[in-house]
Amino acid sequence: MAEASEYLVYTKNLVKRFGDVVALKGINFKVNYNEVVGLVGDNGAGKSTLAKILAGIYVPDEGEIYIKGQRFRRLTPQKARELGIELVHQERTLAEDHPIWRNIFMGREITGPLGFLRIREMRMASEKLLNEIGLRAISADTPVKFLSGGYKQGVQIVRAVQFEADLVILDEPTIQLSISEVHRVLNYVRELKKRGRSCVFITHNIYHVYPVADRFTILDRGRIVAEFRKADLSIEDLSHILVSVARTGRIPEKYEKINLLYTE
Ligand SMILES: Nc1ncnc2c1ncn2[C@@H]1O[C@H](COP(=O)(O)OP(=O)(O)OP(=O)(O)O)[C@@H](O)[C@H]1O
Ligand SMILES: [Mg+2]
Repeated sequence: MAEASEYLVYTKNLVKRFGDVVALKGINFKVNYNEVVGLVGDNGAGKSTLAKILAGIYVPDEGEIYIKGQRFRRLTPQKARELGIELVHQERTLAEDHPIWRNIFMGREITGPLGFLRIREMRMASEKLLNEIGLRAISADTPVKFLSGGYKQGVQIVRAVQFEADLVILDEPTIQLSISEVHRVLNYVRELKKRGRSCVFITHNIYHVYPVADRFTILDRGRIVAEFRKADLSIEDLSHILVSVARTGRIPEKYEKINLLYTE
């Protein structure tokens, strides 16, 4: 197995309990530099819990987290941000009444020497980013509450890009979105990849993640049961594997030879 320091993110034997529930049972999760990882698995598999540990929201009970080779027992939200990790939540975190630019710079406002907000600067930087990421029709002055779900995801991703996040974790970004909005979100992910960043894309819908992912990690009841390179697997294969995991907790035997858990 490769060294922890070769990965952007590497977790070793992460365990997380909530009372009697063991949400994560020894997770070795990896994200390479400039890689899009599809993190898939059934309800309650532990996907959001893993995401929240990487974002410093939850403290693991056991295990270690390596970010760019640096070892941690736990992160805090601030530390995770400093290390370049941004989580775009299942629960949205935008201030609905505030304009887009304000949301993009929330918590990290640009201020002048006297502490005044540099509104013009933030607005212009926001417009530029919105343009670059393909949200052209929208003014940065628009209050977030007037945006559709897909655009809101876009604003959160723009925020992550603005702060030079190396890893953007998207937790169910396409839930409740229309088809055209799903395409928009997938384009943001492609844009992240083009910019050399990495992304963990958590979803139930493999048809959303398959086109943009480089690799898939399958989580089942707190355990990683398989990892596959997209190049080794069609979307039908992936669907077949997930049905089998949901039913039996195992992947069909014929796929074991391409399961990276055992071949790497
Ligand atoms: N804050 C919490 N308190 C208690 N139990 C929790 C908490 N968060 C998660 N759990 C439990 O941990 C397990 C994993 O939950 P998690 O939300 O990580 O799953 P998930 O894979 O994200 O599921 P979903 O696809 O439904 O979002 C579940 O059994 C869940 O009930
Ligand atoms: Mg979840």
